[in-house]
Amino acid sequence: MAEEKNELMEKIESLCKRRGFVFPSSEIYGGMANTWDYGPYGVELRKNIKDRWWKKFVQDREDMVGLDAALIMNPKVWEASGHLKEFKDPLVECKKCHIRYKADELNKKWNKYVCENCGGTDFTSSKNFNLMFKTFVGPIEDVDNIAYLRPETAQGIFVNFKNIIDTTRKKLPFGIGQIGKAFRNEITPGNFIFRTREFEQMEIEYFIPVPKKDKDWEKYFEGWRREMIDWMKDLGIDVKKEIYELNVPKEQLAHYSKKTIDFEYKFPFGQKELYGLAYRTDFDLKSHRLDYSDENGEKFIPHVIEPSLGVDRSVLAALCSAYKEEKTPPQPSPSKGEGATRVVLKLPNWLAPVKVAVFPLLKNKPELVKKAKEIFDNLKTNYACEFDDNGNVGKRYRRQDEIGTPYCVTVDFDSLENDDVTVRDRDSMKQVRVKIKELEDYFRDKLD
Ligand code: GAP
Repeated sequence: MAEEKNELMEKIESLCKRRGFVFPSSEIYGGMANTWDYGPYGVELRKNIKDRWWKKFVQDREDMVGLDAALIMNPKVWEASGHLKEFKDPLVECKKCHIRYKADELNKKWNKYVCENCGGTDFTSSKNFNLMFKTFVGPIEDVDNIAYLRPETAQGIFVNFKNIIDTTRKKLPFGIGQIGKAFRNEITPGNFIFRTREFEQMEIEYFIPVPKKDKDWEKYFEGWRREMIDWMKDLGIDVKKEIYELNVPKEQLAHYSKKTIDFEYKFPFGQKELYGLAYRTDFDLKSHRLDYSDENGEKFIPHVIEPSLGVDRSVLAALCSAYKEEKTPPQPSPSKGEGATRVVLKLPNWLAPVKVAVFPLLKNKPELVKKAKEIFDNLKTNYACEFDDNGNVGKRYRRQDEIGTPYCVTVDFDSLENDDVTVRDRDSMKQVRVKIKELEDYFRDKLD
């Protein structure tokens, strides 16, 4: 489908580029369609998401361990997992302009499918197209050397199931978490970082005993559903307003799934899948001929609940939920008339790429710069900080608001007399004076 855009999405995309969150990839060579690079603030935001996920779902839980498997695995993995045969999208081509579409995403107008590019209504019949990227391992490009870039991180977990049981002695129920890149040769990438051919996943395969009845797996499924809702709230998403839980209809389930919930987020370009939660039954371990022995030596194949989260979609949803345009009170008379509009990213503190920005009021006053540098050096040992002496303070506030920095500290002439600074809060824009020696405690209360 042609890339749908709207004004809000364009504003967010433009902010990302202007402020160094996301750049079009290979831009100096004309770019590479639907491929993006994460800039200095984007990489911090992504890292905050991945670190938080890892801590919450791997390190803080006794029933979880982590893994980092290879991206290119033995191609037999993809044969056994069913991806070679089943991981396909139906592809059609407009006969007039030759644009390709996923057949199930074509839009109908007046009861006819219509090409969004040229308005044509004549399409080729649908062909199945495997989404895995193919490559060759070693110098010889023949069938014996074909390999695939992994289309999901999940299979790296399944094929290591025995290694993990043998080395950690984990007992059911337990899970394995992994964060890593996945690749899909998507027919219709687009909508900024929403659907790309290279993306990153945070996946958990949670192994449970063989269910004797439906309730046995449903209780684990429900537990993970709640965990995912908590995670989305933590990201700053208003779950009640912005998330729709789609119970994926049977005919649209992936080949391995008995039940899937898609958590759909109301993106500016439409309501689309943010994360998925699937009951994969014993499909994968059975396909890889892996089993488990309990304390009595009884062998069986565990079942699996899979919460699967995209890092890039987490970034996009967090940015969309945080993006605000607000009228500010006019200066210097806040009670008179209307002020300017400010753009602000109201990110949760843990997610903000910079926690505290430190400014000297004037960059050409060495005593202010020296004091501000001392404060910056001190705070940066605990928090991601930024020192900024460019332009006037108003401009610096605007820049930090757009990056989503929760606090700005300004060193002015009073600071030299009274050993205090102005701390400005991003959301309320209120300013308070705080003694320099109390700054660490002040931020510890707010940022830790
Ligand atoms: N292991 C299960 C699995 O891969 P999926 O629904 O195909 O399930 C899981 O993908 C998540 O990965 C999605 O909910 C989404 O967050 C992310 N994802 C999938 N394809 C993507 C793409 N082309 N671009 C960005 N993120 C993607």
